[in-house]
Amino acid sequence: MAIRPISDAAAEKAAASIHQPRDPNTLSNYNAWRTKRTTADFNIDFDAKKVVGHVTLSLARLAKEPKIVLDTSYLDITSVEVAGSKADYELAPSRMEPYGSPLTIQVDDKHANEDELDVRIGMQTTKDCTGLQWFDPAQTSNKKHPYMFSQCQAIHGRSLFPCQDTPDVKSQYTFNIRSPLPVLASGLSTGARDFQPGKDGKSGPRSTVWTGPEELQECQWEFEHDTEPYIQAAEKIVYPYAWTTYNVLVLPPSFPYGGMENPMYTFATPTLISGDRQNVDVIAHELAHSWSGNLVSNASWEHFWLNEGWTVYLERRLQAAVHGGDQYRDFSAIIGWTALREGIERFGEEHEFTKLIVDLKGKDPDDAFSTIPYEKGSTFLYYLEKLVGKQKWDKFIPHYFTTYKERSVDSYEFKATLLDFFASDADASKKLNDLDWDTWFYKPGYPPKPDFDTTLADQCYALAEKWKSLNSSSSSDFTPSPSDISNFTANQIVVFLEALLAPSPPLTPSLVEKMGSVYGLAASKNVELVSRYYLVGLQAKTESLYEPAAELVGKVGRMKYVRWLFRELMKVDLALARRTFEGKREFYHPICRGMVEKMFREFEGGGEVK
Ligand code: BES
Ligand code: ZN
Repeated sequence: MAIRPISDAAAEKAAASIHQPRDPNTLSNYNAWRTKRTTADFNIDFDAKKVVGHVTLSLARLAKEPKIVLDTSYLDITSVEVAGSKADYELAPSRMEPYGSPLTIQVDDKHANEDELDVRIGMQTTKDCTGLQWFDPAQTSNKKHPYMFSQCQAIHGRSLFPCQDTPDVKSQYTFNIRSPLPVLASGLSTGARDFQPGKDGKSGPRSTVWTGPEELQECQWEFEHDTEPYIQAAEKIVYPYAWTTYNVLVLPPSFPYGGMENPMYTFATPTLISGDRQNVDVIAHELAHSWSGNLVSNASWEHFWLNEGWTVYLERRLQAAVHGGDQYRDFSAIIGWTALREGIERFGEEHEFTKLIVDLKGKDPDDAFSTIPYEKGSTFLYYLEKLVGKQKWDKFIPHYFTTYKERSVDSYEFKATLLDFFASDADASKKLNDLDWDTWFYKPGYPPKPDFDTTLADQCYALAEKWKSLNSSSSSDFTPSPSDISNFTANQIVVFLEALLAPSPPLTPSLVEKMGSVYGLAASKNVELVSRYYLVGLQAKTESLYEPAAELVGKVGRMKYVRWLFRELMKVDLALARRTFEGKREFYHPICRGMVEKMFREFEGGGEVK
């Protein structure tokens, strides 16, 4: 074959098409320039509620491209230097929703031959910053000091500083932070890189918990029993923990998620502190992200199932290892299946966002967020485990996490790596090649439902049936008593309550009240339980529970609960829902506030809020 020279322009075009960015949710040209190191020098100004300073990105050149485009969102940019001298730049005058305002920096011709350039940007955050929440002293538990925390997943990092805000780019980072108050920054503290617990001298715990002084002891108690066993279980399934220590920071109640896997420091909602160690599954989940998500990252939010599906899969393996076998694993999967149903019903079975791989071009990943990547993803991995057999599958797990360690991965690479791993195993290979990958990847709606071991769930369903019998007939001989649930775990009570939610017909209000008092549900400190009890109550139009439900949603900002409670509250008492929201507007995290505003718009516009 003759080799034909091609023009520069054509070569560049070919190169560009080969290096098409995989992530549609960034405006940065990360296929042309790639961040290698990020250094931030920040002042935290609690009075003005802003972060002010400089960020330096060391960018490697991947293509002949004189412009560097970075993501920003609601940032003030005050200066830009390239390799130490002032550079021309433009911050797009209007936002490109939902991605923010691209910052375009001109690289002078004199740098045309340099492979790596330092770009130093002067900046400050603004009051519209979506990635930070600020608190006045009065909004904190002991009312002594102001407070602030960050939440950047999925695309809020760009509201903190200009960057290539995509999980497809991994960069080392150094944060130098000046603050009048103590700072906890997630990452290896200076000098900790080579720390190995117990190597030189006496070993101490490799996990710590951080929170306000008044709350510290109960937080420690909540997690200290299970954390180390979870780490050891995960190390057996995957490979040794890579981040030296694993720690948890317990945040104020407006934290919008259950947990967030910041490296080395899981950020957690205080609703985990229920005094019964029954919410530690969230810790198992966030810990599992130390492998799936933080070492091996989804290449874009379209492949979010690789982060969350793997993490739920590992979380349930940890549960089984630490808390008693496969019954427990399947029980957790049954709860997951109900969550999957909730997610699919919210969007509708044909909706794009019910696919395993979703199309997020032009979309906001926060809008696509649901239980679906978690549950459809973990169901897929469980299916693969069963397909090739657990023993063989367990050899693939460390292989996958080694292959993509410190890299980003998409679903096609996952598939190729799996097929390749089993290529010399005729049986597994045939099964994997015969698998209908496209259906798993692209068919909306439900995946095939696995056969779960229902031993633990059956007791919960049986009890729910008894309550339903009281509802529908006067001849039922069931007399509720505290002993009905005295052997139940909190999750079993959750399954019992969920069995009474729609599509089951509502109970009568008086039965709901009776259930609350006999089982002590209204008084429980465990929000997983109370919130579901209130949902049962609101669906049954139990007026005595409207105020308590409003009170709960006004003091717990975890979006999962906020969404559920407002959705039901709007239906039964819109004025109360409005009043509650307006009264607590400042309490909610900006991301959560945006979500509730959207729910009100939909509901008041006559639409159905799901
Ligand atoms: N990484 C997620 C939280 C997240 C996802 C934040 C997407 C922003 C955008 C975290 O690991 C998570 O999944 N949290 C769950 C925990 C649960 C599945 C145990 C949560 O917050 O409920
Ligand atoms: Zn997660």
